Amino acid sequence: MAERLNLTSSPSASSMASVRAAAARLFPATAKAARLSFPSVSSPSSLKCLRSSPLLSPLFLHQKRSSAYLSIGNFSTVASPKCFVSDPDQLKSAREDIKEILKATFCHPILVRLGWHDAGTYNKNIEEWPQRGGANGSLRFEIELKHAANAGLVNALKLIQPIKEKYSDVTYADLFQLASATAVEEAGGPKIPMKYGRVDVSGPEQCPEEGRLPSAGPPSPAAHLRDVFYRMGLNDKEIVALSGAHTLGRSRPDRSGWGKPETKYTKDGPGAPGGQSWTVQWLKFDNSYFKDIKQRKDEDLLVLPTDAVLFEDPSFKEYAEKYAEDQDAFFKDYAEAHAKLSNLGAKFDPPEGFSIDSSPTTVQPEKFVAAKYSSGKD
Ligand code: HEM
Repeated sequence: MAERLNLTSSPSASSMASVRAAAARLFPATAKAARLSFPSVSSPSSLKCLRSSPLLSPLFLHQKRSSAYLSIGNFSTVASPKCFVSDPDQLKSAREDIKEILKATFCHPILVRLGWHDAGTYNKNIEEWPQRGGANGSLRFEIELKHAANAGLVNALKLIQPIKEKYSDVTYADLFQLASATAVEEAGGPKIPMKYGRVDVSGPEQCPEEGRLPSAGPPSPAAHLRDVFYRMGLNDKEIVALSGAHTLGRSRPDRSGWGKPETKYTKDGPGAPGGQSWTVQWLKFDNSYFKDIKQRKDEDLLVLPTDAVLFEDPSFKEYAEKYAEDQDAFFKDYAEAHAKLSNLGAKFDPPEGFSIDSSPTTVQPEKFVAAKYSSGKD
């Protein structure tokens, strides 16, 4: 039977030695090979790597699923361990904590933007992880937060960091995407079919170069959106659907340079007052973004050049018109596109990822209703 390794404080060199010894007893052949790749016995990250090592994962995979696995205390910081896999139970608890933060601070929009900007650096033409970019938690590093497109997102990281510290077995990559999807759902948007298990990059040197995210005012907005989103492997329908996330939030001149300092819709908050929103009820996820851009009646509502083009380019227009008319169609396409965006470039462990919502195996069998069969009339 597998031994349970439970270290409640930061591991010392001697406790690391016991971990190795236990692993070696259980898997002598694999442990010998794995030893070659362990970073250092004095590093806490080596414990996590031990759990995630492809050579030893059978030991820990079983224990993890039964919630009886290696515990190493709260040491996780922005400089997180190299091989890290999220725990489903911790993800579920983290989701509840995110809901509390949303209720208290109305930060739905910035959490959606956080998830999008971590994932949106993906380049489908690069095969290697993490060079290909995408949803890998790299946005937690200062070097990437300082990219012009990410202005203001440090505030989102500040909101998320205490949750990361509380749940050390959740990766940043998963937490950013969990926060974004939860924010959409809590704002009244569609349920997003998410999966989890994203691996984090380990250091700032693995961040993508600046310039992979879209600009709001390029010379040819339609061509620019296609350049950027096609590079991510997304199509015209997905570009339009995802742009609908601007139904939430505001633009602030002191961050992106776009928008008014305040409007009648933003001067009193909720949350930090100011900025210019795309919609009147900018904390409600619905299809008003498409209706408002189409009408363009209210000077207090924002329309970026990349928003306006959705009703100008013939291919984009087809979807934008549809979403302005039909909120259900928008919700359906948005949920699919958001889930796809959240997976871009991600390396999953296990490779197929996992859901934290009820799976078919937990569905209760249908109740037998005797009358249905005995009466003969229905
Ligand atoms: C199509 C290309 C896009 C461009 C050019 C663009 C540009 C911008 C800009 C300039 C801001 C204002 C940032 C600030 O001043 O704080 C912003 C905010 C926002 N963006 Fe986008 N965006 C794009 C696509 C997306 C996508 C695909 C999503 C999500 C799926 C998204 C979600 C958001 C949200 C929720 C905000 C509000 C943030 C807040 O209120 O703090 N955007 N975007």
